[in-house]
Order: sequence, then C-alpha cells, then structure tokens
Amino acid sequence: MKVLKKTLKTIQFDNGDQMPILGLGTWMSQPGEVGKAVKEALYGGYRHIDCSPVYGNEAEIGQALSQSFKEGFITRDKIWITSKLWNDSHTPDDVQSALEKTLSTLKLEYLDLYLMHWPVALKKGVFFPKSAAELISLDDLPLSETWKAMEILVDKGLCRHIGVSNFSVPKLKKLLDIAQQKPEMNQIELHPYLQQPEMLDFCHKNGVHLTAYSPLGSRDRPSFLKSEEDPILLEDATIREIAKRHQATPAQILISWTIQRGCAVIPKSVNPFRLQQNLAAADLSLTQEDMQQIARLDRNFRYYSGKFWVLPGGSYTQANLWDE
Ligand code: A2P
Repeated sequence: MKVLKKTLKTIQFDNGDQMPILGLGTWMSQPGEVGKAVKEALYGGYRHIDCSPVYGNEAEIGQALSQSFKEGFITRDKIWITSKLWNDSHTPDDVQSALEKTLSTLKLEYLDLYLMHWPVALKKGVFFPKSAAELISLDDLPLSETWKAMEILVDKGLCRHIGVSNFSVPKLKKLLDIAQQKPEMNQIELHPYLQQPEMLDFCHKNGVHLTAYSPLGSRDRPSFLKSEEDPILLEDATIREIAKRHQATPAQILISWTIQRGCAVIPKSVNPFRLQQNLAAADLSLTQEDMQQIARLDRNFRYYSGKFWVLPGGSYTQANLWDE
C-alpha cells in the first residue's frame, strides 16, 4: 500500500483534539487477518482505528499496534483509537475494570474515545443473551448510572473522550440532561438507506459528533442478521450511476457521501487494495445533485435492527430500543 502523505480531514472536539474523519472499522475482521489489516492501514495513512472487545480481535489489534510503534512508522500520539464498553459491564463498579481490560488487551495506556456500545444492559459475563434472565432492564440499571461511571474514566486519564453508540435522540436528550461531561460522540448505523436526518440535526445543534458504522451496508454481517430481501447497498443503481460519473467505486461514493454530511466514517476492510481505495474516497467531492439523488434513497432500513436484544419476557423491544 502506498503511503499517504496528505493529512486527513478531521472532526474537531471542544478541547481542540482532532479525530481523523475516516477510520478503519474492525467488526467482522477475523483473527488471523485483522492485525495485518491494521498494520497495512496505518502504513498506508489511516490514523483512526475503531475497536470493541466484543469483536473478539482486540488482542491481535494490540499486537499490530505495538509492532507498528516498534517499527517506528507511527507513534501513539499520531493515531486515534476508539473502543467500547460491552453491555455486560454497565454496572458502575464494572466500568473502569472493563476499560482497563481493553487497554491491557490493546497494549495502550489510554484510549482517545470510549463509547457505551448499546443502550442495553446484560448480566456480567454475558456476550449475547439467550434468555430474558440474562438481561438487566434499564429501570434496574439506568444508562445515567453507567454514564456517571464513564465520566470518571476521563478524570482518571484512562480515555480522552467519552460517548455512546446506538443511542436514539430521546436517549441522547436524557443523557445530556444529567451529564457533567456531555457525550461527545454517537456511533450509529448510517448510510443512504438509513439517513437519520433528525439525528443529524439534533447532534449538530447539541455539539454531539456522529460516526457512521456499516457505511457500505455491512455485507459480511453474520448470517443470522441477513435475510433474502435485504437490499444490497453496494449494488444500488443510483450509487453505481454516481460512481460511474466520478470514475470512482460505489464504496467510495458511500464514504464520500458520509463525510460530506459532516460525519466520521469507519468502513471495514481487510483487503489492502480496498483499504487504499476507501481512504482515497476522503478526497472525492460529490455535487449537490449527487447529494440530492442519494437523499431520495432513504428507506429507514437497518442492517442491525437490534432484534438480538428482544427476548420473550425481556424488557427490550425494537420500539423502545430505537424510540420509534
Ligand atoms: P473486505 O474486508 O473483504 O474488503 P461495512 O464497512 O459497511 O461493514 O462493510 C464491510 C464489508 O464491505 C466487508 O465485506 C468488506 O470486505 C467490504 N468492503 C470494504 N471496502 C470495500 C470496497 N471498497 N468495495 C467493496 N467492498 C468493500
């Protein structure tokens, strides 16, 4: 992969910190390939890696990071690392140890950004729940309690910024009401089939940044989350037509569209050629007409509906998860 000399566009935080607007997603990057992808990405110019303990690959990412530091082509202060608090550690007493575990796995002393992964609480040690007995309701363990414990992590210097993921506007509002330190980021599924204009508007007005996950339509999502009727974003006729006009690929149009809406974007790839292609998309400019054409593709469609939290006798429903 060619080394990118240019500086990437960034998202600016209130304290002046800058998060590269394009990062590398690592969900579904398999052990055995993720480390290589991370090193390749950093070597080629990526400066932002998005992780989570639930992706099952942080150890290999940690290995790749420390090798990259040792080889000397990148230093810790030049990259942005995000990770997330898994749902089984929402109890305030578990929050700091969860972050410390992630730091030790990633072989880092601090994270740039730590996110509450879902507005869903699980019993300790539960990865994905099989029955309602493994859930904790938000009445029993409110998100505000978890948030207060996350605020302390910033004071302790274990992470620079805190935020959330998969939060609806009403849940963000509630958190903003009680927060001493506001959530600075909401990482959500965002692409032309799920454009979430009200979320963009709310976050813009309240100084909350957005990161788009599954920006390419998460084609390699697990099979239990796939159904025959799901639309394939990378094959959308409008996206392909725009790509042709720009002599770009559909993936590049999707990445560029997200950035042009002011959102950070974390396309996942483990392929050196596609890693480079995706990074180069940060330089593409879409016209107003392109943006209007893409705006018409919205169909409020989620590849990650959150149905895995909905269990017989449990307190979570898709309606109360998304507040719609
Ligand atoms: P691969 O890792 O083999 O490149 P998302 O970021 O929406 O979750 O999408 C990730 C999926 O898109 C993966 O299957 C990834 O495969 C694929 N992908 C990543 N970049 C590109 C690209 N430029 N063109 C086509 N597919 C891509």
